[in-house]
Formats: sequence, structure tokens, C-alpha cells
Amino acid sequence: MEVSVSFLGDYNYKELIKEINNTSCDYIHFDVMDGRFVKTKNLDVYELKELLGISNKKNDIHLMVQNPMEYVDHLKNFNIEYITVHYEASDVVKSIKEIKRLGYKVGVAINPDTSYSVLEDLLDSIDLILVMGVVPGKSGQSFIPDVSSKIDNLKEIIKDRNLNVKISVDGGINNMVLKYVSNADILVSASYVLNDFKNIEILKNGK
Ligand code: DX5
Ligand code: ZN
Repeated sequence: MEVSVSFLGDYNYKELIKEINNTSCDYIHFDVMDGRFVKTKNLDVYELKELLGISNKKNDIHLMVQNPMEYVDHLKNFNIEYITVHYEASDVVKSIKEIKRLGYKVGVAINPDTSYSVLEDLLDSIDLILVMGVVPGKSGQSFIPDVSSKIDNLKEIIKDRNLNVKISVDGGINNMVLKYVSNADILVSASYVLNDFKNIEILKNGK
């Protein structure tokens, strides 16, 4: 299992990213919220770019925004592994194409109440699925166990179609929910791992 550390909350982001750089995590997960797709607003694109410059990990961007194209076009020539847009946002197909054109891998996220089946037609053109374990917008919520069957179904489809698509799960991840997410490839976590960076190893080794 790979681990992507998210840092949504009341932190000094620059200092925190320097600390995360020294942990055993695989990615840093940048949550970007526009105050429209979700109620809260956090990083603007300029702050995001500055923070990306501090990270020395692989970077995973999660755009919780209504118009991803407004952000994607500002992200040329960065050290970015994945840019993920929400299926429920605008211009998803256009954003997927643009992210690829910039040379990044592309992810599509689905909210807890969105069916996994909406992704079936997109699977050939994406690299990552981000299954939300909570309603997006804030850290520290409890994982919704019903989401587990989506992960299992998607894993099955990916195997059957012999696709190279990773499954990432975001929200409410901790040692208690590992049993629900064993078919994931990447676990995104803020509160559990920021509470104690040793928890990264528990997620990595966990089943
Ligand atoms: C939720 C964000 C998550 C969040 C995870 O809207 O996309 O990345 O920061 O936080 P925890 O791990 O505390 O649920
Ligand atoms: Zn996220």
C-alpha cells in the first residue's frame, strides 16, 4: 500500500510540508477547495505553486473545485505526479485531456453518493480513481463503510479489463478502517498520520 499525506487544517503549511518531506510517505496530497464545489476555500493557485516548491515527495493534487480548467492551466511544468478532478465538477473530459497534455497522470474522484459505474467509460483514459471515504470539504470525519464495495467493484473491473489504473481512497483513513480498503493502492490521510507520523507505516503494512 502507498500512502499520500494530506494536510488540510489549521497548520503552518510550509513548516508542515518540510516535516512531511522527512517521513516515509510516498506522496504529498494537496487539497484545493474553491468555496463553490465545497463550502470551504483554502489554497489559491499561487499558494499551491509555492507549496509545491517546498515538497520533495511525489505530489498528488486533489481539485475539489467546480471549474478545474481554471486551475489546471496554471500548473504547467511542476513536479506533479497526479492531478485529480471530481466527476461531479464541470468539464471533466476536457480537464482530463488538458492534464494529460501537460504531461501529468490524471485522476477522477467520486463522492460517497456517486456510483462507481459512472467511471466505466472513463477508465481507459485515466490513471487514478480517487474514492472519497467522506463527503469532501474537511479533515477529521469518519469513514463511510458503504464505500468499501465501490473499491472492490472498481478493482474487479480494472483487473478484468487489464487496465493500469490505481485506486486511491481519501477521507477517514486510520488503522480501524484498513479492513474496508484492502483493495486500494494508495491511502490518503491527514488527521491519522499528522497525529503521529509512525502511523504511515501502519497504513503501508496494513491489510
Ligand atoms: C477531504 C480531503 C481529504 C482530507 C483527509 O475533503 O479531500 O484529503 O484532508 O483528512 P482525514 O484523513 O483527516 O479524513
Ligand atoms: Zn483530498
